[in-house]
Amino acid sequence: MTMSVCTETVRERPSDLLLIHAAELATCSSAPRRHAGHDSDGPLCGAAMRDIGIIRDGAIAVRSGVIVDVGTTPEVLSREPSGDASGAPGATQVIDASGRTVFPGFVDAHTHLVYAGERYREHVMRLGGAKYLDILAAGGGILSTLTSTRSASLTELVAGAMKRLDTMLLHGTTTVEAKSGYGLDIDTELRQLQAAKLASEAHPVDVVSTFMGAHAVPPEFKGDSEGYLDFVLSEALPAVAEQGIAEFCDVFCEEGVFSVEQSRQALRAGIEHGLRPKIHADEIFPIGGASLAAELGAVSADHLAAASSEGIRSLARAGVVAVLLPATVFTLMSEAYADARGMIDAGVAVALATDFNPGTSPTMSMSFVITLACLQMRMTPAEAVCAATRNAAWAIGRGDRAGTIQVGRDADFIVCDVPAVDALPFSVGVNPVRDVVKRGVRVVKSAGGGGLLCRSRI
Ligand code: NIG
Ligand code: FE
Repeated sequence: MTMSVCTETVRERPSDLLLIHAAELATCSSAPRRHAGHDSDGPLCGAAMRDIGIIRDGAIAVRSGVIVDVGTTPEVLSREPSGDASGAPGATQVIDASGRTVFPGFVDAHTHLVYAGERYREHVMRLGGAKYLDILAAGGGILSTLTSTRSASLTELVAGAMKRLDTMLLHGTTTVEAKSGYGLDIDTELRQLQAAKLASEAHPVDVVSTFMGAHAVPPEFKGDSEGYLDFVLSEALPAVAEQGIAEFCDVFCEEGVFSVEQSRQALRAGIEHGLRPKIHADEIFPIGGASLAAELGAVSADHLAAASSEGIRSLARAGVVAVLLPATVFTLMSEAYADARGMIDAGVAVALATDFNPGTSPTMSMSFVITLACLQMRMTPAEAVCAATRNAAWAIGRGDRAGTIQVGRDADFIVCDVPAVDALPFSVGVNPVRDVVKRGVRVVKSAGGGGLLCRSRI
């Protein structure tokens, strides 16, 4: 389908950057409301996720970091002011995306970006049959990362986060959510959140922060989850809220970790402190995390691999975005992928994320997650792209700026070496991303010989 889009801004001077001749351009802005102020405000739910507004021979014009025009290449060029007397388009920089497909920059809506230490031995233990929750109960897992993170300095945490953000950017991620939860004491939780803030300020990728004090029970409270929760709510949460360094509050609602009632208390306290609720829900056992997310009007419920049908229906009714994390299921060698088809059929807005963390999901590649979403959860390529961009942006409160290619939005988009949207999931084990534009700046550039140049600071 080729869509025509009119621009609503008066364009008296040339664009800073023009992208032209994209074989397909996935705007993720539902037709015919692709221009400023006319798109429906929210994630796409259910079947609407399949309409991602593809433009053939697509073009984008950018000025001052913002998209000023979107349409077919002839349309956008005809509206582009000329730069000189010859009448030729005057954009400072032109990206010719012939033969390639353009997407909004990926939004990775669930990660544990800031930590120290490695856990590859645990992966080896799982190859021998050890279970994730058993490793955690024996003091490994999250608690092993806790030990390394507590002893890391702010500088070390920032350096680790920056290095990972470089990798994410090279794989097309332009906005990422990052959780604390590997400190589980006030100083380290604050240090993790400060590291995320500093990394966000120094790196092209935007980092959105979540406080996750209720991620596990630390050794000093061993066996006393009530006592630890009391500490989180009365001391750690107020300290985080006072510094204003987190937007969201999250809890690991899981058998043997925090119960539904404890999660309710944690998220309600977060709301009272101005932090919007998110929840690790029904990942391994169906204990009712999805229904709790609906009851509290959470921004998102994440994981959901074991969610019940009633839980899924409640997410649809309450308008909670379901953030699915198939790379975690893959890494844990489970066969229990979330019921993405059931969710989409029930009218849920589904998003995708890497869940990048040292223990259960070592990938930073959203295109790999898209591959898993299609091959293991039977999402269509269009649904998966919508889930990794527009819906993911709504899952972290950035839907008004990121996740779509639309006039007036941040110019965050990527050029992939695939001939069509439908080809993206079948780019397996290789990185299809060739160019990344973040707020109008070409921060990853396809270079001669197929190399990539990553600019980690702008
Ligand atoms: O989302 N499930 C709980 N939290 C993380 C895992 C963190 C870890 O194992 O370090 C997750 O998978
Ligand atoms: Fe997680």
